[in-house]
Amino acid sequence: MRYSALAGGKRLRPILVWLAGEAAGASEPQVLPAACAVELVHAYSLIHDDLPAMDDDDFRRGKPTCHRAFGEAIAILAGDALLTRAFDLLASAPLPPDRIAAMIVVLARAAGTDGMVGGQVSDLEAEGRPPDEKMLERIHRLKTAALFGASAELGAWAAGADEKMRSALHRFGEELGLAFQILDDLLDETGTSEETGKRVRKDRDRRKMTYPALLGVSGSRARAAECTERAKRALDGVPHSDELGRFGSFLLERRS
Ligand code: IPE
Ligand code: IPE
Ligand code: MG
Ligand code: MG
Ligand code: MG
Repeated sequence: MRYSALAGGKRLRPILVWLAGEAAGASEPQVLPAACAVELVHAYSLIHDDLPAMDDDDFRRGKPTCHRAFGEAIAILAGDALLTRAFDLLASAPLPPDRIAAMIVVLARAAGTDGMVGGQVSDLEAEGRPPDEKMLERIHRLKTAALFGASAELGAWAAGADEKMRSALHRFGEELGLAFQILDDLLDETGTSEETGKRVRKDRDRRKMTYPALLGVSGSRARAAECTERAKRALDGVPHSDELGRFGSFLLERRS
């Protein structure tokens, strides 16, 4: 669990929890459990995503993947335990019980069949199929954008923000998450493994349904920029959101 979770990922989802929480007025002890919980869910999802039965990858965050280092059984269990620990952490947050209960629902839905797991199922089912715009957007919204949306929403919940603020921040996170996954597809196609810490051109090899396969490189860049703009528009009316906007721009420029 430590090998994968502390391997030095970018920590984008916890940063998003943090910045959304900050915009909504949360304190550090209020946001920290949710920020850690989303990163643990993410770390688990990567361990399982890399398994031979899924994307079958050997490198992650510049190191051998968890199953390459410890074997498949321990990798599966490390993922299971990270997911479980995430909910333990969130349930133990120093927040009112009704708020914690609501936050658990937000994270569970983003991680489950209507979120990341559902998206991962569709991602596997779509391998080898001709790219279909509607299906592709749905896959990316579920497998990646749902957790980004939840991250921003959890920051708002941690602050005790109202429904309007929570849904604006959720929308911001989700659109940013879609831009983020388009960029991930692009970096797989155009980046280097030194930059990304993982094998590149793997989507092409596995005939994954991706944005570069559908729209080409420049079309995908344009689409990611559109999603980022949509994300920023969701911040209209959200006070103290400058840092969130800058975070969105930063994600669009990333090379790793
Ligand atoms: C990789 O996510 C998996 C996707 C959802 C595309 P990140 O690029 O955020 O991975 P780390 O945490 O920085 O390693
Ligand atoms: C992973 O998407 C999404 C998850 C929910 C883990 P990818 O399969 O494209 O992520 P990488 O490229 O292996 O990091
Ligand atoms: Mg995958
Ligand atoms: Mg993968
Ligand atoms: Mg990828």
